[in-house]
Amino acid sequence: MLPDYEKFFISPEWKSIRVNTLKIDKEDLLQKIDFEVKQIEWYEHGLWAKGEISKTLEYYMGYYHIQEAGSMIPPLFLPLEEDKKSVVIDACAAPGSKTTQMAMMMENKGVIIANDVNIKRIRALVHNVQKAGAMNVVITNQDARRFDLNSQADYVLLDAPCTASGKIAKIESIVKKWNYARIKAMARKQKKLVEGAYKVLKKDGIMVYSTCSIEPEENEEVIDFAVKNFNLEPEKFKIKGLKTRNGIKKWNGKEYEGADKCVRVWPQDNQTEGFFICRLRKY
Ligand SMILES: C[S@@+](CC[C@H](N)C(=O)[O-])C[C@H]1O[C@@H](n2cnc3c(N)ncnc32)[C@H](O)[C@@H]1O
Repeated sequence: MLPDYEKFFISPEWKSIRVNTLKIDKEDLLQKIDFEVKQIEWYEHGLWAKGEISKTLEYYMGYYHIQEAGSMIPPLFLPLEEDKKSVVIDACAAPGSKTTQMAMMMENKGVIIANDVNIKRIRALVHNVQKAGAMNVVITNQDARRFDLNSQADYVLLDAPCTASGKIAKIESIVKKWNYARIKAMARKQKKLVEGAYKVLKKDGIMVYSTCSIEPEENEEVIDFAVKNFNLEPEKFKIKGLKTRNGIKKWNGKEYEGADKCVRVWPQDNQTEGFFICRLRKY
């Protein structure tokens, strides 16, 4: 399955941060920090960073968020900069990297319902939302498979729980935890989450499904399930400057519908963690 197998296991030496434009402009931030940075080519608010980035006044002030570069990609699949006053549900939101990125894209307009089932992780979500100065966020603690919300969203981000095998090059324990039964169980949960997310999405609304796993069962197979069971149509999407590849069409004797519209971000292509993203429109 892996293209460029040898390069896949090289762990990137740069970390990454996202400038929090709710609090500061990039140019002003660059004047204040003294660790090494360089521009992330495909995202104007993203910076590669080297040095002490987590113990700085600017970090505690919320001027930037430490966020893995790959994790900055899924929110960019939603047109939030053009449609700032929309209603967005972030179905699996904790610890809030993408919630706070979306608040920034929306310039604190509209509403983001940031939900997570895990109360302990919600503490981190609350902390990050407050630190970022995100004012358009409502936090809920529900199981997204059975959302009980009396509203429908223009956009849903479903950044699903996953086996995180896209982080294998960086985090050795993920190799040790890898087992097929866990992947299959995760895929069953992800399909139920898609159903929950579908129910709270408006007609013509957009859902973005993402994981940091490379397993087809957690990715293309979930999209295949979504397309076959719900009124969801995958849409091709591209980010300028980001090298992406199409989803995997055939795997373990199965053929997946919609795979050619899915996006795979392989670690070796952009020095990020591995990510899978698919944008789906409800019809
Ligand atoms: C990949 S993490 C989300 C990361 C987050 N979007 C971010 O960018 O910071 C997946 C999250 O899904 C949550 N989760 C797992 N099962 C869930 C469920 N049934 N309903 C809602 N959230 C769930 C987990 O607690 C975890 O916080």
